[in-house]
Amino acid sequence: MSKELKITIDGCEMTAQEGRTILEVARENGVHIPTLCYHPRLRNAGSCRVCVVEVEGARALMPACATPVDRDGMVVNTRNERVLAARRMTVELLLASGNHDCPNCASNGHCELQDLAYELEIEHPRFPIQPPDLPFDNSNPMIVRDLNKCVLCGRCVRGCQEVQVNQVIQFGFRGPHTKIVTGGDTDYADSPCVFCGECVQLCPVGAISEKQRMPYGKAFEEKIVRSVCTYCGTGCVVDFHIINGRIVRVTGNEDAEVNRGSLCVKGRFGYDFIHHPDRLTMPLIREGDSFREASWDEALSLVAERLGRIKEEDGPEALAGFSSARCTNEENYLFMKFMRGTLGTQNVDHCARL
Ligand code: FES
Repeated sequence: MSKELKITIDGCEMTAQEGRTILEVARENGVHIPTLCYHPRLRNAGSCRVCVVEVEGARALMPACATPVDRDGMVVNTRNERVLAARRMTVELLLASGNHDCPNCASNGHCELQDLAYELEIEHPRFPIQPPDLPFDNSNPMIVRDLNKCVLCGRCVRGCQEVQVNQVIQFGFRGPHTKIVTGGDTDYADSPCVFCGECVQLCPVGAISEKQRMPYGKAFEEKIVRSVCTYCGTGCVVDFHIINGRIVRVTGNEDAEVNRGSLCVKGRFGYDFIHHPDRLTMPLIREGDSFREASWDEALSLVAERLGRIKEEDGPEALAGFSSARCTNEENYLFMKFMRGTLGTQNVDHCARL
C-alpha cells in the first residue's frame, strides 16, 4: 500500500498518495495546471512541457503530468513568474511552428492550443511563424488531416497504439522534420487504418478532424446532446454535436464507463442517415404493389389484428419474430416477453445470435 505524504502546492498543504503525479494531486485538490500532451486515458508522455511547475530543490522546472510525488514536505509552485514565462515560451513556439489560423479553423472553440494562448494572454507569438508546409490529407470521406496544425503532442499516436492497439499512427522522421505518419507515411486511405476516429477524438487542435462537419460551422457554435449509439447492443455513450438542429459530428463520451470516449467507425462517422431525405419517418402500409403513409395508431392496430388472426387460424407456432442488435437489452427482453407471453410462441430470435 502506498504511503500518504504531505505536500504543499501554491502555499496550501495537501495530502497525496506516494507515486501520484503532481498533476493528479493538484487536480484532486482543485488546483489548475494547464496541459496539452496529457490525456487521462493515455500513458504519460511528458513531452510538451506546458504543465511545468517549480519543485523547490529541483534545478529545472518539472512536468507536473510526469513527476511523481515522492517525498514528504515537497513544495510545488504552479503559477509563479518563472513557471508562467516557461509556459508562455512553449506555447509561443508551438504557435509559431504551425498554421494556427483560428478564425479559419473548423476547431475554433474546441482547441486546447487556443485555450492555452488565451489563458497565458498570448496575442501573437514573438517568433516568426513558419508552418512546415505539409500536404493536406483529404484522401478519405471521414477524416481530414492538416499536419500544418499539428503540435506533435503524440496523443493520436498513443491513442492508436494504447487504446485501439492498431499501431497505424507513428512519429516519423527526425528533428525538425518530425511529423505524424500513418502506415509508413502514406495517406490515411492507403494505410491499415480502420477509421475508428480515436485520433480525431484525442487531437487537441485542428490537425485531425471530422470531414463531414466542415460545411456546417465551427466548434464554438455546437450544442452537445448526450445519447446512446444505436448501431449495436454495446450501448456506447455518444455526444451529438449539433448546429442549427443538425448533427455535425459525434464524439465518444469520455466519462462513460462502457466506452470511455472510444467509438467504432459506424458509431463515430455513420450518422448521415439521421438527416437523409430517404429516411422513413412514419409507418407505411402496403396496398398492392405500393405503400401508403399511415399513422402509428392505424399501423399498430393493423399489425395487432393480423397477428391475432394468424394465431387464431393457424396457432401461435405459425408466428415468429426477429429482433435487432440495434435495440437495447431492455427492448429485446420486452420483445421476447411479447412473443412468448402474449403471442404464445417460442419462435423468437435475434439477428446477432451466433
Ligand atoms: Fe505535461 Fe505535456 S502535459 S508535458
